[in-house]
Amino acid sequence: MLPRRIYLDWNATAPLCAAARSAIERALAAYGNPSSLHAEGRAARDLVERARHAVATLVGRPREQIVLTSGGTEANQLGVLALAGAAERRGLPRIAATSPIEHPSLRGAVAALAARGWTVRELPVAPTGEITPPGDGPLGLVALALVNHELGTVLPDAVLAAARAAGALIHVDAVQAAGKRALAEVPADALAISGHKLGGPQGAGALALALDDALPLIDGGHQERGRRPGTENTLGIVGFGAAAADADPADWPRVAALGARFEAGLAALPGVRIHGAGATRAGGTINAGFAGALGESIAIALDLAGVAVSTGAACTSGSVRPSPVLLGLGLTPAAAREAVRFSLGRTTTAGELDHVLALLPAIVARARGA
Ligand SMILES: Cc1ncc(COP(=O)(O)O)c(C=O)c1O
Repeated sequence: MLPRRIYLDWNATAPLCAAARSAIERALAAYGNPSSLHAEGRAARDLVERARHAVATLVGRPREQIVLTSGGTEANQLGVLALAGAAERRGLPRIAATSPIEHPSLRGAVAALAARGWTVRELPVAPTGEITPPGDGPLGLVALALVNHELGTVLPDAVLAAARAAGALIHVDAVQAAGKRALAEVPADALAISGHKLGGPQGAGALALALDDALPLIDGGHQERGRRPGTENTLGIVGFGAAAADADPADWPRVAALGARFEAGLAALPGVRIHGAGATRAGGTINAGFAGALGESIAIALDLAGVAVSTGAACTSGSVRPSPVLLGLGLTPAAAREAVRFSLGRTTTAGELDHVLALLPAIVARARGA
């Protein structure tokens, strides 16, 4: 029997994993402030530090580098601004490179650099979604995602290698890469991840920051070694740590194989194109364009049929704006509005995907007729 709902929106938020749920339930009793010296405080501190250890292990960095944050957005903001400050102190060129297909949180962080006098360069993106390495010019900072949130495309190694060769500091948004790829070898001075993409609760994430001179950006407390003041979100951090410990990039090829089979089924439907198909992808994220149909109509019809997906497009007061990521690949606004993102996770089953494939022809036909 199929479950009542089929959840294919893991890139937005993964369901809370069993390990995180039980760790949070156990931690409900630990009400102390992690900064307090008494037994209650020490118990909470112990939980936070265990979680930090799990996060450090997942990203393959020393635990001293881990700054716990409220999520990926804050980690991107802190990382970019911290590296920009370090670049300025080192006299590096105030020139930052990013791409037009980054998550809004990273684009926002880089835009903040422009506001403080930096020049921002956008690296060209091929129609496949592949980002072009920076050329020989001066560069102080590079800020890019390792895995794109809408397409699942993977940043080519050559991009970060060229950034290193140019002497730039590197911030990597690894929010959609964590749990899917090993991160230890990624050449980043700052690396952002988010708990709720891994099966932890929303509102907890981390920045792995390799430079000691780069923070604090906020004053007013000693927490996170003065790098990110404020009483810790102990329960969120505990869930994040449990999800990080449970994550297993070695298991991801299994999910990617399910995704590849699903993608083949989608591509066999008439008038379907797969965005990003020509680039190396992490697997498990399939962004499909249904010619002549609004992605939003398909997503709504799937939802009514018990399937959660997303369009990746931003919705403001009822009007759907085409995805900047798809526009960045060179799609027309009309073609970009035809997109639906299916994102899979560790508990997705072949049976669920077959069920969605069986539903789609009728749903797409209705959406085309609308
Ligand atoms: C690539 C990427 N970066 C950053 C974020 C932001 O993470 P959070 O939701 O934890 O703020 C997301 C969330 O969708 C993302 O996909």
